[in-house]
Amino acid sequence: MFEITGKKELAPHIKWIEVKAPHVARAAKAGQFVVLRLHDRGERIPLTLFRWDKEKGTIELVFQEVGKTTYELGTYNVGDKIRDIVGPLGMPTHVENFGTAVIVSGGVGAPIGYAVTKALKEAGNYVITIAGFRSKEFVILEDEFKKVSDELLITTDDGSYVRKGFTTDVLKELIDSGKKIDFVFTVGPVIMMKIVADITKKYGIKTYASLNPIMVDGTGMCGACRVTVGGEIKFACVDGPDFDAHQVDFDELMMRLTEYRDEEKIALEKYLKEVQ
Ligand SMILES: Cc1cc2nc3c(=O)[nH]c(=O)nc-3n(C[C@H](O)[C@H](O)[C@H](O)COP(=O)(O)OP(=O)(O)OC[C@H]3O[C@@H](n4cnc5c(N)ncnc54)[C@H](O)[C@@H]3O)c2cc1C
Ligand code: FES
Repeated sequence: MFEITGKKELAPHIKWIEVKAPHVARAAKAGQFVVLRLHDRGERIPLTLFRWDKEKGTIELVFQEVGKTTYELGTYNVGDKIRDIVGPLGMPTHVENFGTAVIVSGGVGAPIGYAVTKALKEAGNYVITIAGFRSKEFVILEDEFKKVSDELLITTDDGSYVRKGFTTDVLKELIDSGKKIDFVFTVGPVIMMKIVADITKKYGIKTYASLNPIMVDGTGMCGACRVTVGGEIKFACVDGPDFDAHQVDFDELMMRLTEYRDEEKIALEKYLKEVQ
């Protein structure tokens, strides 16, 4: 059992929790995730390691309430216990001094975006973070990003905070301004990552994307997280979640993510009815 030691609402339906999980904190690296199960009858869901503290033995997660399990996790408070936490899982993000690195993060891609930005900065890169959100009320982790970025460019879809537009518009402007960019890392909605990859491919900029397929065991056994990269089948939980974005079949990923939409809708409606 893993005790929740901190909790905060960062934005509507987006929550931060700190959990005691020394075995994960000890070995965690940027880009990795955990698979958790709330209780004996719970399903397994993957969440990214946002931050961790080896001394305290704690990990921090940021999640958006989108369906049954994330809504239920949102009701857990400090002192409550999560049944299982397995991790750290996945390959850590490959980090080196590339020169100038740009992180393109959308929505709740921000926790991974932050962990990778921090690691790239510590490796000596000049780091430019482009973080996009739907609107002002959904902007999260701004102060955290500021501390680990040389430049932070925030954008909102509706222009209610800083500037109006998509992260991909900002990336394009940056490239068109003549800025030399050596590496791009992207995480967030699949459509955003696909457009980032299309843009950087034209300019030959090495680009990695953190993929978010449905995962069940998180250890390469079930095949749920199958993705196609460079025409080959890969399992995102053990071969990824980061892959060369120019090789990823994003259309297949988008299709596979919606495969259980009807069942997910029924599960959430049933859960909300039970707790009301
Ligand atoms: C490696 C990885 C890291 C992730 N990190 C974060 C994070 O830090 N914060 C965050 O808010 N979300 C993260 N996600 C997505 C998160 O796992 C899903 O939002 C969650 O599983 C939804 O479960 P649910 O029961 O609440 O919703 P459901 O109603 O079951 O599903 C809603 C949508 O979430 C996705 N989803 C459902 N089940 C899974 C599953 N088992 N694995 C992956 N996706 C699923 C599907 O696209 C689905 O349509 C991550 C996903 C992956 C693969
Ligand atoms: S989640 Fe089962 S193989 Fe990756």
